[in-house]
Amino acid sequence: MNISYFTNQLLHWYPDNCRELPWRNTKDPYIIWLSEIILQQTRVAQGLPYFSLFLERFPSVQDLASAPEEEILRCWQGLGYYSRARNLHACAKSIVQEHGGDFPQSYRELLSLKGVGPYTAAAIASFAFGQQVAVVDGNVFRVLGRYFGIEDDIGSSGGKKVFEKLANQLIPEDNPDIYNQAIMEFGALQCVPKNPDCNSCPLQPTCFAFSNRAVEKFPVKAGKTKTRKRFFQYFHIQCGKEVVINKRTGNDIWMGLVDFPLEEHTEGMGQDPDSSSLIEELKTLNPKVNFPNQKPYKHILSHQVLIAGFVNVGVDPIYRNELTYWVEKNGYSLVGEDQLETYGKPKLIVNYLNDQK
Ligand code: ADE
Ligand code: SF4
Repeated sequence: MNISYFTNQLLHWYPDNCRELPWRNTKDPYIIWLSEIILQQTRVAQGLPYFSLFLERFPSVQDLASAPEEEILRCWQGLGYYSRARNLHACAKSIVQEHGGDFPQSYRELLSLKGVGPYTAAAIASFAFGQQVAVVDGNVFRVLGRYFGIEDDIGSSGGKKVFEKLANQLIPEDNPDIYNQAIMEFGALQCVPKNPDCNSCPLQPTCFAFSNRAVEKFPVKAGKTKTRKRFFQYFHIQCGKEVVINKRTGNDIWMGLVDFPLEEHTEGMGQDPDSSSLIEELKTLNPKVNFPNQKPYKHILSHQVLIAGFVNVGVDPIYRNELTYWVEKNGYSLVGEDQLETYGKPKLIVNYLNDQK
């Protein structure tokens, strides 16, 4: 399999930049498991003394399994979340009693151990047994999210799957363990959460977030980006001295106000009249379509940002009957331009109309 540019860069970056950490020079699944459980609970610097203490008191999984629970809890003191310490003990006991003292080697079996989730199972499978299973933790979300510009929500199960799938495509057959260490270390040292130094980054030339000035936007967490963007493509349809209006009903913004027929897009504004179903419907009326200006009109609400663009559509009065038919069929109204003045309208419609004067 081809190694991607991304993977290659990480594998080159790692040996020159990695920290010297005690759990990195071993293939012993017990030591790796122990370090990962502790590191789930705290940062590397705070975790190091706990790691040393545990290894000293409980040099093997057998020692940990046969220790009294109180002793384990005492060693864990200060790390918090004591159910993790109890799971640690339960897992050690099950390794000894049900697995003959050896950690299972497959990701699936590792996952069935108490307190071992997808992240820890992947870490043990790759670091101890050299298996090609990608770790996905907060560092990995951030690095992949930024570099590839992944919009999926890391808080949703569907979003997590997107990252897992990509990570498992990127992990190389050779040295999968080093790749896993490298991407986490890269997230911990280079592509850090706040103000990463992108100018010193080997991935910068092809990084999506960097080139789009969107480093702070990734990884995407729902609830954080509460504002939804909506793009309104408005059609200002004029027929002689009359204009087509849309009375807003329904449980959406601007209920009771009057605006124009519109097409809503979730992505950017499609300023291509050929792709507009509305223009298509009016085609037999030989409309004169033009964009009076390219200026987007914005309206900012607490949870959404509306970005509106306007298309001017001129219909010759000889087609007034046909237009009226279309207007009624779609629930719009055809009113005199002076009448339009009397209706309550959203601010951006008012701004647009003022710009037309
Ligand atoms: N954080 C979680 N696992 C780690 C590891 N193996 N090395 C460094 N930091 C980590
Ligand atoms: Fe992260 Fe910046 Fe490098 Fe992109 S360029 S991977 S955002 S450090």
